[in-house]
Amino acid sequence: MANTKEMKGVVLAGGLGKRLRPLTRVTNKHLLPVYDRPMIYYPIQTLVAAGIEDIMVVTGGPHAGDFLPVLRDGSQFGLKDLHYAYQEGEAGIAAALSLAREFVGNSKVCVILGDNILENGIGDYVTRFLATDQGAHLLLKEVERPERFGVACFDDRERLVEIEEKPEFPRSNYAVIGVYMYDHRVFKIIDTLSPSARGEYEITDVSNHYLREGRASYEVLDGWWTDAGTFESLYRANSLIRESQLRQQEVHK
Ligand code: DAU
Repeated sequence: MANTKEMKGVVLAGGLGKRLRPLTRVTNKHLLPVYDRPMIYYPIQTLVAAGIEDIMVVTGGPHAGDFLPVLRDGSQFGLKDLHYAYQEGEAGIAAALSLAREFVGNSKVCVILGDNILENGIGDYVTRFLATDQGAHLLLKEVERPERFGVACFDDRERLVEIEEKPEFPRSNYAVIGVYMYDHRVFKIIDTLSPSARGEYEITDVSNHYLREGRASYEVLDGWWTDAGTFESLYRANSLIRESQLRQQEVHK
C-alpha cells in the first residue's frame, strides 16, 4: 500500500490577484475569506486530509508577510511545521513550483493551487498515483465554461493527449483542475520551458511534456470543484462551502 507520507505537498499562493482588485489591495488573494476561513485553509486542509504532512506554501507580492500570522507553524492543521518560499514577481504557476525544488528533492509532489477548493478529499487519487510508475497524474472536471481553464483534449479512445490553456474553441468540456501530482523530474521539465504568449511559465506545458512522453494519467474528480480567483468564482466558492457546511451541521444534529 502506497504511503502518502512519502509525498510532499506544495500550495501555490503567489501572483498579484489582479482580477480581484480592489480586494487584493488589502491583502493577498489567498487570505480573503471564503465563508468561515481564509481561502488558503481549504487547499492546505485538502493536502492534510490526504495524509500529506510535509507542506510548503509559495507566495509573493506586497502582502506576503500577511501569511505568517495566519498560518504560523501549521499546528492548527495538525502539522509539525510549515515551509514557506517567496516568489519574486508573478512569472507563472510553473515558476512558482520551481521554488520548491530543494524542498521536494527526490520525492513525488502534490501541487495544489491556493485558490482551488474541492468538495471531497483527494486521498484516493494520491494513493493510486503513488502506486503507479506514472510521472504525472491529473484531475479533470466537466465545467460549463471550459475556455476559462486548461482544457483536456482526448483521442477517439478517450485517451488524454493534450491540454490546451484557455483555448478560444475548447475541444472538450473537461477542465484540468488545479491539483497536479508529479514525480521529482518535474523540476528538470520546468527548466526546459519558455514563457507562453501571456509571459508565464505554464503548468499546462509541464503536464503536456509528461503527456507527450506517455507518462501521464488522469481521473475525473468526484464532487464539486471551483477556483476562487474572480468575483464570480469567489462568490460561488462562498455559496458552495456554506451549503456543504450547513448540510453537515444538519447531519450531525
Ligand atoms: O484553477 C485551475 C486552472 O488554474 C487551470 O485549469 C489552468 O490550466 C491553470 O493555468 C490555472 O489557470 P488560472 O488562469 O486560473 O491561474 P491563475 O493565474 O489564477 O493562478 C492560479 C493560482 O496559481 C493562484 O491562485 C496562485 C498561483 N500562482 C499563479 C501565478 C500566475 C502563483 O503562485 N504564482 C504565479 O506567478
